[in-house]
Amino acid sequence: MIEYTPNLLDSFQVNGMSINRRPLIIVFALLMTSLLVACSGIGLQRTAEQTEGARLYDLYCSACHGDEGFGGVGVPLALSDFLNTASDEYIYKTIRHGRPGRVMPAFNELTHHQIDAIVTHIRSWGWGGSTSTQYSSEAIIGNPNRGRQLYAKHCAYCHGINGEGGQGTGVTFSRPRSAKILAPALNNAGFLAAANDHMIKATLIQGRAGTPMRSVKKMGLKDKDINDIVHYLRTFEEKTSTAEPEQNRKKVIIKVSQFSFDETLDRLKTAIKRKGYQIIREHTLDAGFAEAGSENSKQWIIYFANFRLINESLTRDSRMGIFLPGRITLVEKEGKVSVLAADPMIYNELFSNNTLIELGKTLQHFYLAVMGEATSS
Ligand code: HEC
Ligand code: HEC
Repeated sequence: MIEYTPNLLDSFQVNGMSINRRPLIIVFALLMTSLLVACSGIGLQRTAEQTEGARLYDLYCSACHGDEGFGGVGVPLALSDFLNTASDEYIYKTIRHGRPGRVMPAFNELTHHQIDAIVTHIRSWGWGGSTSTQYSSEAIIGNPNRGRQLYAKHCAYCHGINGEGGQGTGVTFSRPRSAKILAPALNNAGFLAAANDHMIKATLIQGRAGTPMRSVKKMGLKDKDINDIVHYLRTFEEKTSTAEPEQNRKKVIIKVSQFSFDETLDRLKTAIKRKGYQIIREHTLDAGFAEAGSENSKQWIIYFANFRLINESLTRDSRMGIFLPGRITLVEKEGKVSVLAADPMIYNELFSNNTLIELGKTLQHFYLAVMGEATSS
């Protein structure tokens, strides 16, 4: 098993620092990384569920959590301590409920099967925890008042006095080196619904090597202390809001085409180029996962970019990187041709940052216009 070390994140930091100055190199690096990932997948025998999971992860998660889970806007998922303590149920529920009010979206539109496939994909990375730990669902009873004091002393300076979590996004370069990874919100309805008491306890005991989260044993806490803290964390539940404002938000723009698959693809490419964007690569959605020659040619993904816009955006805020490069997917299923793209506005709303909202709107208009042109005359 390969130990996940902070060095991996350090290399992200190197990239991060050069983002403003060298956007083209970053784009190039992104391309090469994707290419390498694609190539390294060729020849691997994968089950249908793994292929499906990889595709869905790429579509919905990799922009934030990184192609192989090393983190970015989202916290890293490829940590052996995370994979060894997180249960499948926890990952499943985190995807379903998201973290309302935080950056992690709720994925209501995914089916039960699709979420399972994503979980299977995450388990297949090989950073540890290839099977789910089973936890008792019994509540841990401690002394929550004592837990509050221990929490204030040992946890609050990272997770916030009321469990509100650190500010910002997952892995960031503006935080001190020792605390590059954001402390998640613990008073969050999504977190509390996803994690059961025994999993939280195991997380506290294990810590997360490679992140600022240390084992509480190293903080000198004893079993009873841990029970008190876990019980205290549960009391946050009474204070979390049950309102889920993000619940019904559309996260994917979908347009059904009146043209054939090939025609729609042609129209899409023409529309993208006409708007001054360059197509940087395109391939079947399962390229690198399906055996060479057996890819589904009726599922196509196009990556494109406008280098001027990239330059401008990254200078303003390196988090813009999550929009880049742009991707539109084309799918033919049962004779119906659809064009899909992640709605750039969802990321903006999550960050509630005016500069990002502005760029999101521009991109959303771009997607709507280009996808409209491709699918109807
Ligand atoms: C817009 C960015 C974004 C997207 C898209 C996103 N996440 Fe997250 N995710 C985050 C952030 C940020 C957190 C940390 C939550 C916090 O800050 O409270 C997180 C937390 C998580 C956690 C909990 C991690 C832990 O340490 O306990 C899991 C599991 C997770 N995400 C999985 C996924 C999966 C799977 C997908 C795709 C279906 C996904 N996320 C999509 C940003 C994102
Ligand atoms: C030095 C900062 C720091 C301190 C102190 C700290 N944590 Fe954390 N904690 C983090 C970070 C960062 C993560 C996210 C790790 C990751 O990305 O996997 C985390 C993750 C967690 C998680 C997993 C939640 C999730 O969504 O990933 C729990 C539960 C948690 N911490 C509880 C605690 C408790 C309880 C204490 C006090 C006993 C504590 N932490 C002390 C920084 C800290």
